[in-house]
Amino acid sequence: MRAIILAGGTGSRLLPLTRLMNKHLLPVGKLPMICYSLIKLKEAGITDILLVTGREAAGSFTDFLGSGLDYGVSLTYRVQEQAGGIAQALELARPFVDNEDKFLVLLGDNLFEEPLKPHLEAFVQQSEGAMVLLKQVPDPERYGVPVFDKKGRIKRIEEKPEKPQTNYCVTGIYFFDASVFTLIRQQSPSQRGELEITDVNNAYASKGKLQHTLMNGWWADAGTFESLHEAAVKLMGKIP
Ligand code: DAU
Repeated sequence: MRAIILAGGTGSRLLPLTRLMNKHLLPVGKLPMICYSLIKLKEAGITDILLVTGREAAGSFTDFLGSGLDYGVSLTYRVQEQAGGIAQALELARPFVDNEDKFLVLLGDNLFEEPLKPHLEAFVQQSEGAMVLLKQVPDPERYGVPVFDKKGRIKRIEEKPEKPQTNYCVTGIYFFDASVFTLIRQQSPSQRGELEITDVNNAYASKGKLQHTLMNGWWADAGTFESLHEAAVKLMGKIP
């Protein structure tokens, strides 16, 4: 299976740290953040990886990671000219996964403990559609929050709801089939002017094609000062 890491965006919640440096190149313990995504994918046996990032940062990523050799992976790059949303960034991956039935998408600011392999294997068994990984969190209002039907399936996802209906969040680890690109093209920008991945997942959910698994272990979206600090403390001891 191939994977796509999304590492664009503005990183505005981490200003001024992100004034000169892309969020995913900030240090987390002993490594720049982006390295943890590569390590997790390699651990799951995925080595063909597309990295999508913004124009200002693209040179820094290629300088630092090159072909991916140091991490045992093969990297391809695409540039997102404007931070127009996660789904817009994902659309750039279309040529990279043209011959694939299924692929994995990782948001580069998601850091986590559990191996991806069991989730990947669950998705391989799924005949079609998409699969998201859920995690119980104390602050669901920061994230996409799933609403379940009586059978425990995701009915819809609410993006950053004021009053979350559950204490689960949809993590930035997504498995999609090739129909994702058709669904992206059917979306319109949200109120904040972005093509939202939550709208794409909701399109799958409305067709009954959105499955989920639960994440074990520690997980963080390192997009705020607190979570970046917490992630650094957790991951400091993990790298020799
Ligand atoms: O971390 C999980 C959450 O990620 C989900 O629960 C939400 O449903 C999802 O919308 C997303 O929320 P965030 O507010 O954390 O998204 P953020 O704008 O921080 O972007 C997440 C990642 O996607 C980040 O690593 C950069 C990348 N990105 C983002 C945008 C807007 C891009 O590559 N291009 C973009 O245009």
